[in-house]
Amino acid sequence: MTLISASILDGNHMNLLNDVLEIQKGGGDSIHVDIMDGHYVKNLTFGPKTVEHLRKTTDLPIDVHFEMYKQEDFIDLFIDAGANMITLQLESCLHPLRAIEKIKRRGCSVSLAIAPMTGLDSVKHFIHEIDQINLMSVEPGFGGQRFREEVYKKIEFIKDIIEKEKLQTVISVDGGVNETNMAKLIDLGVGNLIIGSRIFKNQEVEKNLQYLRNVISNNTFRGEKV
Ligand code: DX5
Ligand code: ZN
Repeated sequence: MTLISASILDGNHMNLLNDVLEIQKGGGDSIHVDIMDGHYVKNLTFGPKTVEHLRKTTDLPIDVHFEMYKQEDFIDLFIDAGANMITLQLESCLHPLRAIEKIKRRGCSVSLAIAPMTGLDSVKHFIHEIDQINLMSVEPGFGGQRFREEVYKKIEFIKDIIEKEKLQTVISVDGGVNETNMAKLIDLGVGNLIIGSRIFKNQEVEKNLQYLRNVISNNTFRGEKV
């Protein structure tokens, strides 16, 4: 089954509790929390305290996406706060292998995100080490950007490696995901759709999630149900 991870970047930062409750009611499978430092990307978002309080309000898995520099220095802080998965951003991570090892040693799941224009050559070296690969379909930094179709080819390339090498790595796509591209993403083998602004459209979180769930279950891309 395809999972939906709700990115709270476009949520109501003054009332995340309500957003999380609606995500649960709407059937979201996890919460995606983008941590931005104002340097790697020109935006500032959440901190470990946010994750700590999210942890107290939900049993849903929390995926913390580091869109920042000095990622290694913050791993323990966010795992202590309650993260179930840390997503490292490859382009701003100084020693990715060391960071991956550190996360795994803490018993936390690890995902690796790559920006749209980053090639897949280096990812080949990491794919055996991670639980999830996050193929970003927008430039890191903001919600509500246009989905970049270049990601389709990357999904095919990674899916091929995963199948040939019989890996369990989940493919996730992050950025601009909505009802117009979900069917194709699922068809190509994406297991986790990370969705932000489409879920928060008109602040109707529960309704939007239920609608997107229906799109997944009625998916008839290429005439086949998924
Ligand atoms: C972008 C973030 C995404 C973002 C997705 O830098 O990593 O997680 O919240 O939001 P939408 O779905 O609006 O593109
Ligand atoms: Zn993200």
